[in-house]
Amino acid sequence: MADVSIRNVTKQFGKSEVIHGISCDIRDGEFIVILGPSGCGKSTLLRMIAGLEQISSGEVVIDGRVVNRLEPAERDIAMVFQNYALYPHMTVYRNMAYGLKMRRMPKDEIDQRVRNAARILELSALLDRKPRQLSGGQRQRVAMGRCIVREPKVFLFDEPLSNLDAKLRVQMRLEIRKLHEDLKITSVYVTHDQVEAMTLGDRLVVMDNGYAAQTGSPLEVYERPANMFVAGFIGSPAMNFMEVTVQEGGQALKLPGDIQIPLNGSALPGWAGKKAILGIRPEHMELDSKGPRTILFTVGQVELLGADTLVHGHIGAGQVPMTVRLPDVHRFEKHATIRLSISQEKLHLFDPETKKRIV
Ligand SMILES: Nc1ncnc2c1ncn2[C@@H]1O[C@H](COP(=O)(O)OP(=O)(O)OP(=O)(O)O)[C@@H](O)[C@H]1O
Ligand SMILES: [Mg+2]
Repeated sequence: MADVSIRNVTKQFGKSEVIHGISCDIRDGEFIVILGPSGCGKSTLLRMIAGLEQISSGEVVIDGRVVNRLEPAERDIAMVFQNYALYPHMTVYRNMAYGLKMRRMPKDEIDQRVRNAARILELSALLDRKPRQLSGGQRQRVAMGRCIVREPKVFLFDEPLSNLDAKLRVQMRLEIRKLHEDLKITSVYVTHDQVEAMTLGDRLVVMDNGYAAQTGSPLEVYERPANMFVAGFIGSPAMNFMEVTVQEGGQALKLPGDIQIPLNGSALPGWAGKKAILGIRPEHMELDSKGPRTILFTVGQVELLGADTLVHGHIGAGQVPMTVRLPDVHRFEKHATIRLSISQEKLHLFDPETKKRIV
């Protein structure tokens, strides 16, 4: 168990800098998810915490000790990778015991730790099997067992579920969360899957191209994204963006197609007459309103998902594309016009220059 501090960490590969100064204080027992698209630097950051990659500048502190110059084995961390690389010729038991044996731990203690980990991971009945006799999910659990037996201060995970099929991923996600609630080991988990991030993390660090775009709880990041990158990355289907004009007095927004939306309660006097980017999530619009925030929407493609319906279409004469997610089944005709309303609290406004959140 330990706090982990990442302090202004950068990484250069040759002349190119891929991590541009990231800081994050991870509390003892916290589960942090590093989320971002492919190539944004998630694995590199994790590997610097693990000691598998040198830190170009800044510090990583584990349990009060700067570990920049410590070997991976001296950092008291355990890492679970995407491909779990079990020893094929060893049984489940020996796979889990191997690391401890190499450390010359007494046999009794090894046995106790392996059986305890197997019990937590529901592998007790499989201890004599070889990896090839296991399902993908069972193998992934053995890989986690190998880490648990070491009783590390920190768990690091690099996309551990991405080799599993969709159903197993959901199941393993729940198991990892349960495991964390039982063991309370400080964990850093890398993924590009936002559902995994939202469900597993106490807090998320959303990464954009080597920068930490936002750090916060899953709901903070969803409800108040700090900039357009985070707003567009979190949520599925992605947030709709459109250019709007803030009306004189800053009391209302003018949308494409001459629609006006009042900004009750959150007037923007400094923005009067200026352009801003409005963000609306597909799930934050409703059908059939005659209220002051009604948008006329022209239906294009309709996707019936059973529980809800995704309607892709556009608004305004300028054909601004928009996607709407409506609960239940709706069989709209193509080119039909429907009336939608959006609620005041669910609006997001961004500065077109800096891409940062205004309200
Ligand atoms: N050894 C290396 N030498 C040079 N560049 C590297 C090296 N390792 C990674 N990079 C670059 O650093 C950037 C970040 O890579 P990283 O593997 O951390 O991304 P990632 O967010 O984990 O992506 P993915 O989701 O695809 O795994 C990429 O642009 C990558 O090309
Ligand atoms: Mg990676």
